[in-house]
Amino acid sequence: MIIVKSEAEIDRMREPCAIVRDTLAYVGSKVRPGVTTKELDKYAETYIRLRGAEPSCLGYCGYPASICASVNEEVVHGIPGDRTLREGDIVSIDLCAYKNGFHGDGARTFAVGAIDDEKKKLIRVTEECFWEAVRTLRAGTPLYDIGAAVQAHAEQNGFSVVREYVGHGIGREMHEDPSVPNFGKRGTGIRLKAGMVLCIEPMILAGDRHVRVLDDRWTAVTVDKKPAAHYENTVVIREDGAEILTV
Ligand code: MF3
Ligand code: CO
Repeated sequence: MIIVKSEAEIDRMREPCAIVRDTLAYVGSKVRPGVTTKELDKYAETYIRLRGAEPSCLGYCGYPASICASVNEEVVHGIPGDRTLREGDIVSIDLCAYKNGFHGDGARTFAVGAIDDEKKKLIRVTEECFWEAVRTLRAGTPLYDIGAAVQAHAEQNGFSVVREYVGHGIGREMHEDPSVPNFGKRGTGIRLKAGMVLCIEPMILAGDRHVRVLDDRWTAVTVDKKPAAHYENTVVIREDGAEILTV
């Protein structure tokens, strides 16, 4: 069931979403060669709590950290640990905050020092995929127009999109209906309504689309070991467009 939020509920989502935005920027400022992903997790958790929110990911289905930190060929759900980031790596940080009875959710991919041109292009195109999707949004848009826009832009740039992980509705729960795939056929799916709140989150791969999950049962990696990037925001559907709560 897709929950359409009232204006009062959307107002209550603004704060957790602003905290997500600010935490991502703060963690991004700590990304440099030599830092461990566990240290990034601690920076995020401390900051989220300082703002009076809770890190929604911690304990979610047994997840052991406040952020996902996915390095290079890791696509999503990388568990923070003792791995040290090195010059030339990219790291995708995904996190959620809970406050006022609602969740916010966002992700960014950061460069660690100087990175090669393929990784630069991958980060840029992944963000562009998000904005291509936003261009389709208004009341009445068929749901799968979002994925069609993401997929077209990724594939036009020689990249591929993940099929196994998707965006989602968000509100009182971190994951609500509907699923929001990053692929699909234009003109199909349910029609969006004003007041729906969606997480649109392109996960884009430099190589082919195949991923597998590591023995830790969380970390998704590319089979071909080529890099992946992730960019996500929490978005409100409006009559004539969209409002992005996490930028
Ligand atoms: N923030 C992620 C999302 O975009 C969810 C992370 S899974 C968790 O849906 F277990 F880490 F919470
Ligand atoms: Co999400």
